Amino acid sequence: MKTILVTGANGLLGQKIIYGLRNKEGIRCISTGRGENRMKAKDGYIYESLDLNNSVAVIQTLEKYSPDVIINTAAMTNVDACETKKEEAWYLNVTFVENLVRICEQKKIHLVHLSTDFVFNGEKGPYVEEDIPDPLSYYAQTKLEGEKRIQNSSISWAIIRTIIIYGVVDDNSRSNVVLWTLNSLKNKKTITVINDQFRSPTLSEDLAQACIAAAMKKAKGIYHVSGREVMNILDIAYIVADFFELDSSFIKPISSKDLNQPAKHPPVTGFIISKAEKELDFRPHTFLEGLTYLKNQLKLVAGNS
Ligand SMILES: NC(=O)c1ccc[n+]([C@@H]2O[C@H](COP(=O)([O-])OP(=O)(O)OC[C@H]3O[C@@H](n4cnc5c(N)ncnc54)[C@H](OP(=O)(O)O)[C@@H]3O)[C@@H](O)[C@H]2O)c1
Repeated sequence: MKTILVTGANGLLGQKIIYGLRNKEGIRCISTGRGENRMKAKDGYIYESLDLNNSVAVIQTLEKYSPDVIINTAAMTNVDACETKKEEAWYLNVTFVENLVRICEQKKIHLVHLSTDFVFNGEKGPYVEEDIPDPLSYYAQTKLEGEKRIQNSSISWAIIRTIIIYGVVDDNSRSNVVLWTLNSLKNKKTITVINDQFRSPTLSEDLAQACIAAAMKKAKGIYHVSGREVMNILDIAYIVADFFELDSSFIKPISSKDLNQPAKHPPVTGFIISKAEKELDFRPHTFLEGLTYLKNQLKLVAGNS
């Protein structure tokens, strides 16, 4: 029996990983999240409320379950908030990772850690794993520093970098570019969408499968895991409008210069995913397939509420 502990289990990726691991033969799945369990399904895994800012509680939980693998999805993920709440961002994205590495070293735990395309400056995407990072924002700096704490250690590790994740969480508490566009247009609300930044949207379930594969085989090294298509964010919004048959005239294009986001964002990212395809058997859905998947999930959520 292999014990896999997941942090950030109330988050978008965390939930999908738990759904992938629960009731899986040979796996004891420990799910940890801030506050109460917000997943609908409560069986097939153990839930522990765990605030990662509490280092004593973190040690106690890891002592209690003695995992073989930790999948660390938790992070301060709001890029603009990281610019103003720097201490908070540093603690979760760097200090906590440093503490985790120390425990993994002592207990011989394999660590699968999530990182981001934002470690790159976006001047030459799509990127391979060996490309040199050059973070533009504080969020990106903290994520890169977290990576370095892992890479410079003696533990067994995999770092999975990903790009704008989309999907539906059980309590509908989290938004992303697809849901934001969809909900705004449904409510006939005008949205300004950036027209000069390019990304590869990643279906949360696809990414979860890659994380699970990395945990199961204790994969080692950096992996780039995202959708295949590198798309203009404005086009993502237009495709969502078209797919859900909504009025796209509520979408107003804006340039990075005019939007003036608090954090600097890389213009063009996207990943070459051949390493993940080969070693993690990663087979991402196309964006249109992902939207079809998400549409069915939204119907289910609506049907259950
Ligand atoms: N989302 C993206 O587009 C994207 C793109 C590139 C990389 N990534 C990386 O992918 C990973 C997963 O992202 P995601 O979209 O799943 O993020 P998410 O939905 O924001 O989930 C992060 C989780 O971390 C939890 N968390 C934050 N502070 C905590 C604390 N002190 N104690 C315990 N839990 C805490 C949050 O809890 P609450 O639910 O209570 O807030 C949340 O459930 C992150 O490492 C992120 O950096 C994400």
